[in-house]
Amino acid sequence: MPDALRYLSGFGNTLSSEAEPDTLPRRQNTPQHAALGLFTEQLNGTGFTVRRSENQRVWLYRLRPQILDRGWRRRDGGRLVGQFHNGIPSPEVMRFRPVPLPETPTDFLAGLTTFAGAGDPSTRRGAAIHLYAASADMTDAAFANIDGDLLVAPQHGALLVRTELGRLHVAPGEILIIPRGIRFQVLLPDGPSRGFVSELFDGHFQLPERGPIGANGMADERHFLAPVADYEDITTPWTIIVKQGGLLWEQTADHSPFDVVAWQGTYAPFKYDLRNFNSMGSVSFDHPDPSILTVLTCPMDDHGRNAVDVGVFIGRWDPTEHTFRPPYFHRNSAIEFNAVISSPATSGPWQPGAFSWTPYLTPHGVSSRGHAGELDRTDGVPSRGSDEAIWLQFESTYPLKVMPWMIDHDSRDGDYLRQFSGWQTGVLVR
Ligand code: FE2
Repeated sequence: MPDALRYLSGFGNTLSSEAEPDTLPRRQNTPQHAALGLFTEQLNGTGFTVRRSENQRVWLYRLRPQILDRGWRRRDGGRLVGQFHNGIPSPEVMRFRPVPLPETPTDFLAGLTTFAGAGDPSTRRGAAIHLYAASADMTDAAFANIDGDLLVAPQHGALLVRTELGRLHVAPGEILIIPRGIRFQVLLPDGPSRGFVSELFDGHFQLPERGPIGANGMADERHFLAPVADYEDITTPWTIIVKQGGLLWEQTADHSPFDVVAWQGTYAPFKYDLRNFNSMGSVSFDHPDPSILTVLTCPMDDHGRNAVDVGVFIGRWDPTEHTFRPPYFHRNSAIEFNAVISSPATSGPWQPGAFSWTPYLTPHGVSSRGHAGELDRTDGVPSRGSDEAIWLQFESTYPLKVMPWMIDHDSRDGDYLRQFSGWQTGVLVR
């Protein structure tokens, strides 16, 4: 299904939208009588008193309040977890084939599997990476992640995501940011869908500083799209599910939570097409550090360590001279999770849906074949990465632990390490 929805644009902007005329108060936020008898609600994603430049909140004008006269029940979260005591802090690099699409009806929430995590959402420190594979719509159900912001990257099959602020169509090659607390429902307009999810327990995703690059380049605020208000007035039972402290909870509401007629503020879901990223790079010599390809980040502190960085590798020129152009061999003071969103048919095992894992400070780099090919390359001729390739990378300063069910997963590629043998060395041959 093509994306025929309307959007507002501008990451971090104060946006406003109303689905019915004159339902958004113009001069104040909490009038005694809201238009049409709507209920007024503020959802704040930051503490009231944080710096104004970091303050995020949204005012919602809705048909019914969300507070209910009934309690919450525990719900089985399966392999979606927020506690990582059982995680494996292994130094092993790993590659995985695409996970299979579900053969039985499985909605987005049921199809989430935690890959790795660190920290604890109850202390607001840490991050997690999840996989999802879904084959069914969420029916009369909405989910909100209280534990952290979610960044969802479909790799196969689009998502139609209904949120309290409106609907977004998210296709492979796009990413969706859903701030914590915002209720949403995932529908599958193209059939089964599979993809990757980054979860952030503290702070919010933000655009990285550009530093000496200047005022332009990398991801542009205007390419981030937020939904327009779009409500429904449905009074049949709905299941409201939240993840709080790593546990799933549910309650039954007597109406749809997607009843927001108007809203205004900065706290909104956004989608972004990764193909809009303006890649920066070296035009003289040496391979730049991958941080130059950061789309979004979340600082962990104020001296450059990040809880999560989201990077993208898409088609671009590499003109560097007398330079080893593939990624240099390295050990990184961050974990790396690489996911292939799309790739040319010649990519071997790096097929769409494949993903790899590199732990904290584990040696890694190009394969021995790639190394030999690079040594044979004619210098001085620019090379062009394929526009068919979209690689997404999650990096985290937190040393995430891999969940045990991923260590033994059927999709784990047992041949991965073989590519790192047979090095063509000439060292000390005299
Ligand atoms: Fe790396």
